[in-house]
Amino acid sequence: MRITEDFSTILLAAGKGTRMKSPLPKVLHPVAGWPMISRVIDALNEVGARQIRVVVGHGEELVRQVVEPLGASAYKQDQQLGTGHAVQCAEPQSLQGTVLIMNGDHPLIEANDLRFMIKEFVNSQRKLSVVTAKVKKPGSFGRIVRHHGELKAIVEAKDASHETLKINEINTGMYLVEAKFLNKLLPLLKNNNSQKEFYLTDIVSLAAEEGESVGTILSPSRVAFGVNSQVELAKATKYIFKRKAKQLMEQGVMIMDPDNTYIEDDVKIGAGTVVYPGNCLRAGTKIGKMCIIEPNSYLYKAQVSDAVHIKSQCYFEEVKIETKAVIGPFARLRPGTIIGQEAKVGNFVEMKKVNFGAGAKASHLAYLGDAVIGDETNIGCGTITVNYAFDKKKYVTKVGKNVFVGSDTQLIAPIEIGDNSFIAAGSTITKSIPAGSMAVARGRQVTKENYKPKAPQNNEVKEEVKKPNVEIEG
Ligand code: UD1
Ligand code: CA
Repeated sequence: MRITEDFSTILLAAGKGTRMKSPLPKVLHPVAGWPMISRVIDALNEVGARQIRVVVGHGEELVRQVVEPLGASAYKQDQQLGTGHAVQCAEPQSLQGTVLIMNGDHPLIEANDLRFMIKEFVNSQRKLSVVTAKVKKPGSFGRIVRHHGELKAIVEAKDASHETLKINEINTGMYLVEAKFLNKLLPLLKNNNSQKEFYLTDIVSLAAEEGESVGTILSPSRVAFGVNSQVELAKATKYIFKRKAKQLMEQGVMIMDPDNTYIEDDVKIGAGTVVYPGNCLRAGTKIGKMCIIEPNSYLYKAQVSDAVHIKSQCYFEEVKIETKAVIGPFARLRPGTIIGQEAKVGNFVEMKKVNFGAGAKASHLAYLGDAVIGDETNIGCGTITVNYAFDKKKYVTKVGKNVFVGSDTQLIAPIEIGDNSFIAAGSTITKSIPAGSMAVARGRQVTKENYKPKAPQNNEVKEEVKKPNVEIEG
């Protein structure tokens, strides 16, 4: 839900992310399937940020490609001279009203957190507030230094005294500030600190010097959670997957082991469905009610109706599965495949762009590509639609209703098999078959009774057996 308060955002994302030790710009590392910065932007869009300005530097082009389609605009920081300098690069002179400044590497932020802090700030009628959190291990966070309860300064861990380091109230890196006041303070920043950087945090002491009382908004420690390393990235991912599993369980989904189930944010699952461990349910997947999803399947943009049984170890991409179908184990369904109601797809069956009829069966070892398979048709073990021709084009196979395709049949496309027909096992079918026919296309069997193999002739060359020429040193 959008909030009524009007605000703009400056999102800092120009840093290199050295500690990630990865060629990917830090803010693009995926947290449970989505680049961390898009999680932040999604939350901002949800509450209705008027403008989102992202400060980019390292990996500029890649970051732009992710943030611009989400409605944010990118501002370049050529040299990373510190967080204060980064804010200046976002051209804050052209902003008005409330400005929210935050980091692009805090992926656990939720729309509700933003709603809370913006409301608090607007109600406080202050010119500047810092979002703080109390944490057990304040580590490298900037420390909130108070005097008689009033915020006086933020001291970076690298510049802090032994005593200051003990403070466990920290700066989350989020600030709410009146645009005019921000523009008054920014030119006053200096880089006389241990890192020779223009610290944004210094706007707090500058404001205090101006006689302006600076507010703090205490938020949950989750808000402070920033990703600086692969270990923190994995922690954030785990958090998001567990949050999703919990939401689904609250809606009546049975998740056997939420610690080992990987369901992305936009996945929908109906009540009464059981999800076994090891499943990776990716973006765009929708699963109906009363389904069983056995362990270790990968589903991407799969639309699964009610009461479907997916046995262990399946791989589905962009497929649709109708009610009561039974699939797997070890089935691979590729884009454009639709599995009809109560159909059965067994182990080691691969399908691509197949419309597989209601009640149809392919129980074992088959490849079906670019095909339409009629209702109640049985596809025997080892059947192959030969869809890819010498001219590098794909051709369609149409099999009617209630057809029996014997085991080890090759259907050379383009081809049509009429309803109620029967193909004998081991056939290579090259011509279409009318409805109600029987077709067999294989070499005739030759049987020689009482057969004795011929003895070898004298003039046959015997293969010389060579001794291996290997000497073993003692
Ligand atoms: C910063 C705060 C610290 C706070 C912490 C919360 C400062 C000086 N310190 O420290 O008080 O506790 O965040 O996570 O602000 N960035 C740029 N350009 C730069 C430098 C940084 O865009 O020149 C971006 C980074 O990409 C990152 C964010 O600013 O998204 C924070 O920078 P980082 O170097 O991670 O600051 P911290 O040391 O974490
Ligand atoms: Ca950081």
